[in-house]
Amino acid sequence: MAFVPSWACLLVGCISASLAVSSKISDVYPPLWEESPGQFNDYKVENEKYIIDIWNYSQRLGMYKILLNQTTKYFEKFAPDNEQNLLWGLPVHHGWQYHTGRLADPTHRTGCGHRPLEHLCLSVDSWWADVNYFLSIMPFLAAAEAGILGISPDDVIFLPPPKDQKRFCSDVSSCHASFPEAMKNWNEFYQHVKSPSSSFDDLLKYIWDAHFSSLKVARKNFQSRSKYYSKPEADFQRNWALFVDYLAPPRFPTTLVRMYEFQKGLPARILLSRDKGPFIRDLTGFQNTVLLLLDFIHKVHKYTGKRYGGFVFYDFYRVL
Ligand SMILES: *[C@@H]1O[C@H](CO)[C@@H](O)[C@H](O)[C@H]1NC(C)=O
Ligand SMILES: *[C@@H]1O[C@H](CO)[C@@H](O)[C@H](O)[C@H]1NC(C)=O
Repeated sequence: MAFVPSWACLLVGCISASLAVSSKISDVYPPLWEESPGQFNDYKVENEKYIIDIWNYSQRLGMYKILLNQTTKYFEKFAPDNEQNLLWGLPVHHGWQYHTGRLADPTHRTGCGHRPLEHLCLSVDSWWADVNYFLSIMPFLAAAEAGILGISPDDVIFLPPPKDQKRFCSDVSSCHASFPEAMKNWNEFYQHVKSPSSSFDDLLKYIWDAHFSSLKVARKNFQSRSKYYSKPEADFQRNWALFVDYLAPPRFPTTLVRMYEFQKGLPARILLSRDKGPFIRDLTGFQNTVLLLLDFIHKVHKYTGKRYGGFVFYDFYRVL
């Protein structure tokens, strides 16, 4: 194993199993996980409906927390402590977005996500916050529809963003109407989650299908946000989204510890125009390698088309 380059390790999620035993599970939770709402009663209630400010990091994280909590029983057959719950990928990645400042207002016209009192604010101008919106509301509503959350999806009201409201669906009917395929894929995922005969690999396939279809609609809708970012960061966003296309086919397991390890390879702060790869000094060697690799995948994709890029990926995957 030692001769395998670290980026190949990244690609297949090659992580040391030792981490799982040597550190506490709670060390790898996303920021503010413990403090965030963990049940519906932690949210404000008005007219017998739960009011969720989905543009607040803690409240959006709380939706994931409820989701993870309510699906624990379906994943326990794979490992204790909910560690193998495939939904971990969502909050762990969202935590990285928060921690690296990617959810703040990139235009700096507001203090959203920047000022101490507004550090939980998710900016509607942040590409990351917008894309993640679809990866939070859809899995959440579909879980409610599947009867997994113990409430009806109509029991919740999501507060709208300060602008561009029409670009975001905010309840079951508008999400189905605007993004039928993605919602259908999430529905299917939960049907399989509930089925006792589903294997881990089955669930991995269905969650990636759903993830991929949410990402597809989100990406299309928010390309315009890239103008708010430096070229290196905008390129990273583009390459990252493309990379997820490649992550999906080999079905990277989005379980807690693997996601945590994987995340260490992603740049720990927003990239600035002065950042010139492949050696950005305050990023780790691992992070620089990943940036280089993402750029490489983009080039392969651009010049040879997706299929060939896919093969390159599969070759790396087979190495192990
Ligand atoms: C789910 O959350 C409730 C309320 O916070 C808690 O009592 C329960 O232990 C949690 N269940 C699991 C499986 O984590
Ligand atoms: C975000 O939600 C948390 C937890 O519900 C709350 O304490 C906080 O005041 C909210 N922050 C903002 C900026 O709305």
